[in-house]
Amino acid sequence: MCFAARLADGPVHADLLGEPLVLWRGPDGSTRVMSDVCVHRGTALSLGRISGDEIVCAYHGWRYRADGRCVAIPQLADPSRVPAKARVQAFRAQERYGLIWVALAEPRWPLPEVPELEDGNWAVVTAGPYAWQCDAARQVENFTDFGHFPWVHPGLLGDPARPVVPPHEVRTDGHVLHYAIVRPEARNSDEFPVFGNEQSGPPERRSRYELHLPYTIALRLGWGGDQGMVYFFASQPIAADRCAGYVVIGRNYNLGQGDRVIQDFEDTIFGQDQVVVESQRPDRVPFDLAAELHLKFDAVAVAYRKAMRTLGLAADASSGVEADSVG
Ligand code: FES
Ligand SMILES: [Fe+2]
Repeated sequence: MCFAARLADGPVHADLLGEPLVLWRGPDGSTRVMSDVCVHRGTALSLGRISGDEIVCAYHGWRYRADGRCVAIPQLADPSRVPAKARVQAFRAQERYGLIWVALAEPRWPLPEVPELEDGNWAVVTAGPYAWQCDAARQVENFTDFGHFPWVHPGLLGDPARPVVPPHEVRTDGHVLHYAIVRPEARNSDEFPVFGNEQSGPPERRSRYELHLPYTIALRLGWGGDQGMVYFFASQPIAADRCAGYVVIGRNYNLGQGDRVIQDFEDTIFGQDQVVVESQRPDRVPFDLAAELHLKFDAVAVAYRKAMRTLGLAADASSGVEADSVG
């Protein structure tokens, strides 16, 4: 996964589930994704350049097509006499919400639908990626953890005087968890006037979540008026112990506000979270519910861990990440 805008400057390297990938754009605008390991001497193809509909390795100039086939070896008297073995693996990719989504295998589910980010009436800002030294599941759980807001983000996302987590219930529908919460939030700070919560009395945020397993969340925020915000979050499982969080935010207010305001806010929030989450042990989320101590207000984490197990997405502590859908 990467922000689609990055492909404008040439090939991009990304890692997904330990697999090194090169992402590049063909002349028709479509996205190509291949193994980032040249079959000749293992050089990263992402160091190379794009020439027409081919990517050219930086080391000896071997040329590859979108399907991963090598089509020219310049060192040969006849460069087109390429052995059949000269190919790298190609993967499917989809561009949506300003992101490139890669699937290493047949995707099990479609991407979440977030029409607000595509209808052109909402202002859309991206933030991140937030690269953390932890399991993607830890990053996702943190994004949806209600109890920590007043502690880790006092004055920004939570009010330390109101630490009680309001009741909420989780409905699990296949690979999607649905839950909603109305919770006290901090007033908009002068430093980060990013929320639409000016209109009502003591600020309360209505949040409707869809957590799409394994690592994607669509969160819709409202404050009782017409102003709405969508937080779309996806954690890229780089490897078992590394992830990167991508944030795409849409809102139907503050349309003229510079992107930097929200981006600085997100950088601050994710920075506060990172220290805490990277310290968590074990490194991987323990999907066995007997591990860690769950209380009623941890309902989302409990439902998440259960559903991850039910769907075969829960990696056990000793193995690599097993999730195989888009990410
Ligand atoms: S390593 Fe890529 S062409 Fe030699
Ligand atoms: Fe947080």
